Amino acid sequence: MDMTSENAELSAIVERYRDAEGGLLPALRDIQNTFGHISDAAKRQCAEVFNLSRAEVHGVASFYHDFRDQPTGKPVIRLCRAEACQARGGEALAAEAENMASGRVMIEPVYCLGLCSVGPNAMVGEQVHARLGKSDIARLIDEAAA
Ligand code: FES
Repeated sequence: MDMTSENAELSAIVERYRDAEGGLLPALRDIQNTFGHISDAAKRQCAEVFNLSRAEVHGVASFYHDFRDQPTGKPVIRLCRAEACQARGGEALAAEAENMASGRVMIEPVYCLGLCSVGPNAMVGEQVHARLGKSDIARLIDEAAA
């Protein structure tokens, strides 16, 4: 994505949430999902549109685990580490996933994806994957790393 289309996309995302109550958080989430990180330019634009100080935007962005300042340079699989998924084998699966990923993709924790009864669950981009076993997570890792 070149700079111009990146700026246009950033503006489009922020504008989408301009009039929404509490629009900052979904805007940041959307920016994170689209670009893989939240740049200074994005924070500046959010501050302007939501009429906040840059410190306030930075405060919100740094409060959440899954928001990052820099791109990872690697695909990210977010594996649910919250209680219900843990009880369904999520902890062991996370350990397996770390081994299988061996630096090819980032395995990051996320705390509940809202599908607790069908865990362990993971999210890749916008897509949630449920009922994960060892072979499923291996496939997700291989696909993400490809
Ligand atoms: S605990 Fe994993 S989806 Fe809710």
